[in-house]
Amino acid sequence: MALKSYRPKGTQDFVPPASEVKHIVEMKFRELASLYGYREIVTPTFEHTEVFLKSSGAASDIVTKEMYTFNDRAGRSLTLRPEGTPGVVRAVLENRISLPCRLFYIGPCFRYSKPQKGRYREFYQLGVEALGEASPLIDAETIQFGITFFEKIGITNCTVQVNSIGCRVCRPVYREKLVSFLQKEREHLCADCNERIQLNPLRVFDCKNPSCQKRLARAPLPKENLCPECANHFQVVIERIKEMGIPWENNPYLVRGLDYYNRTTFEFISPVLGAQNSIGGGGRYDYLFEDFGGNQVPAIGLAIGLERTMLALPTPAHRRRQMVVVIRASEKELKPAIELLNRLRDEGISAQIFYDAPRLRRQFALADSLNALLAIVVGEDELKEGVYSVKNLNTGEQVTLPQKELIPWLKKLLG
Ligand code: HAM
Repeated sequence: MALKSYRPKGTQDFVPPASEVKHIVEMKFRELASLYGYREIVTPTFEHTEVFLKSSGAASDIVTKEMYTFNDRAGRSLTLRPEGTPGVVRAVLENRISLPCRLFYIGPCFRYSKPQKGRYREFYQLGVEALGEASPLIDAETIQFGITFFEKIGITNCTVQVNSIGCRVCRPVYREKLVSFLQKEREHLCADCNERIQLNPLRVFDCKNPSCQKRLARAPLPKENLCPECANHFQVVIERIKEMGIPWENNPYLVRGLDYYNRTTFEFISPVLGAQNSIGGGGRYDYLFEDFGGNQVPAIGLAIGLERTMLALPTPAHRRRQMVVVIRASEKELKPAIELLNRLRDEGISAQIFYDAPRLRRQFALADSLNALLAIVVGEDELKEGVYSVKNLNTGEQVTLPQKELIPWLKKLLG
């Protein structure tokens, strides 16, 4: 039987140069996370299904429609992680990590959703979780972290939408108010909204149906029904992000698709993406540790979607790869060419040779197709004279250098 030669729906191959861009984005994320005091945590790609049932929310779309759940050979129900946060909380409790602590992670997540531009079934999240801190200042700092990260990788046009959805004290009262409003609107709302009225009423605000949105314009809003403590917390978050000059806006309908949030919720929006314009999001989740059987631990975090971030990046200027191809004039020079190749690599200069291409013209053509910046020719005359010919494949310029000047010259040019 022939091997299926296409990848599964909703998955992506990262081939060069996209794989290199991915690497750079991840590297910059690591650097910034370390700068803010976060340390890396690596958790399994799959967990016991109950980890997500307890956290992401039994009534959330992720749990009801989007999880990749399977039984292993011993009959255990396991799920490929749809997001990073629940596994981190589970691991912190299981490894008795002392609190407060700051953790970051990078890895693939899986959601069975309808694939489209910016929405995949396998996608990467870059996340940070600040565990054990209740101050609104950490909420503002987390938002600042996100904006700073996007700026550092060249996304300077994203805004952050911020909201507060209250706490255990004010949310049940608000929920009642909302449910009674929705009951009255029932017949004008779509089937999905009707289903949410009892299960998860706040999620009606995520409905994209224009007629529902029109009806919901008169609904009571979470931020208008906060208790004094939540209102004060929200005010400090907003004051602080204003002081930091962060481009923010209030989105009173931002409730987020996961059940564990309380108080601050936020999403980073890119203006260059279509429907899937949220390049990152997060919020406070002060009750999640308790849901896992731990003590109450205030916590806040965010996750950035790698693929959407890459789509939102400005198109880079065409740039040659900062590498050298060693070219021999004939097979007689293969040995000295390999010696040079090894010397370049020992000096930390990225270098390659084409063993299977004896002809000079073919080697140049391959070097060009590789997008290499430089080709160094090792020929009989050059060896006799103790020099190398170096050709810049971008400009076509050629220089002849004494052998001992080559390495310092290359280091200067390639940085
Ligand atoms: P989330 O908003 O579900 O939050 O996902 C975070 C980001 O992951 C989104 O903003 C988006 O960029 C990306 N993303 C989500 N689903 C997909 C998909 N199907 N395809 C491509 N990208 C996607 C969370 O997952 C929370 N755990 C964030 C968090 C961390 N909250 C507190 N700490």
